[in-house]
Amino acid sequence: MNTASTVPVTAVILVAAGSGQRLGYGMPKAKVPLGGDSILTHALRGVAAAGIARQICVALPPGDADLRAQCEGFLAELQTEHGRAAGAGDNVPLPEVTMVDGGASRADSVRAALAALLPGTQSVLVHDAARALAPEAVFHRVAASLAAGAVAVIPVMPVVDTVKTVEATHDGDAAIAPEVVTGTAPREILRAVQTPQGFELATLQRAHEAAAGFDAAQAAAVTDDAMLVELLGVPVHAVRGASQSLKITTPLDLILAEGLLEGPLGARWVEG
Ligand code: CTP
Ligand code: MG
Repeated sequence: MNTASTVPVTAVILVAAGSGQRLGYGMPKAKVPLGGDSILTHALRGVAAAGIARQICVALPPGDADLRAQCEGFLAELQTEHGRAAGAGDNVPLPEVTMVDGGASRADSVRAALAALLPGTQSVLVHDAARALAPEAVFHRVAASLAAGAVAVIPVMPVVDTVKTVEATHDGDAAIAPEVVTGTAPREILRAVQTPQGFELATLQRAHEAAAGFDAAQAAAVTDDAMLVELLGVPVHAVRGASQSLKITTPLDLILAEGLLEGPLGARWVEG
C-alpha cells in the first residue's frame, strides 16, 4: 500500500498508437473525426479537464506528424487556458505534455511511455485514447483510490448480458451450429473493465518488466495493464466506471460517441 498522507505526484499515459483496424477508417483511430475534432483531441481534453496530471505522456503512431501537430495544438490551447486562469487568480499548475513513439502492441506503447515519465512520478493512470469521452469523475475516483492507499485500481461496469463460455462444435455437429456452450458465468460477480487504470508507478513498472519476457501467445493475451499487476499477486481494486467511457472500437461506437457529444450535457461530461 502507498502510505497515503499526501496526493501522489501523478502522470497520465494516453495510449493513442493503435491503427484502428476495426473502425475501418483507413487511418490511425486517434485521427478519426469526432464532433468536429479528432478522437485524440477529445481524449487529451478529458485528461486535462480532470486536473490530476503533472505530466501527460502520449504514445502516438511512430512518425505521425499530423497527430504530433494535434498534440502541439492541444498544448497551445492548454497554455492559453492556463494564462486565462492565472489572470483570474487560479493557481492550477500546467501539465507537461510528452510525446513518444508507440509500439507494435498496446503493452509496448505503455512501456515506451513509462520510459519517458518525469523523475519523481509516484502514480500513473493509463488511459486509452479510444475512450475519448471518459468523464472527469472517473479520473477522480481512480486518483482518490490511489491517494487512499490502493496500489492498483480500475474502473468497472456491471455486465448487462448473460455471458457464456463456448467451444467449437464437435465433429459431426457442424451442420447444427458452429459452437456449443460449455458453461454460464455468474453475472453478478462479472465486471466489464475500462480505463483510466491507476497504479503505484513502481508496481506497474515491475509488471511491465515481467511481461517483456512473454512469448507471442502470452503477449497477445494481455489486454490491459491490471492483468499484468494481477500476475504479480498485487491486489487490484475496482471503482465505478461510466457508460460514457465506451471504447470507440467499431463504427457503431463512433455513432454512439457522436450522440453523446450532441446530448444535453454537451462536449464534456461531468459525472459518470
Ligand atoms: N494502442 C496503442 N498502441 C498499439 C495498439 C493500441 O497505443 N500498438 C492504443 C489504441 O490507440 C487505443 C488503445 O490502445 O487507444 C486500445 O486499443 P484498441 O481499441 O484496440 O485500438 P486499435 O488497436 O487502434 O484498434 P484495432 O484493434 O481495431 O486496430
Ligand atoms: Mg487494438
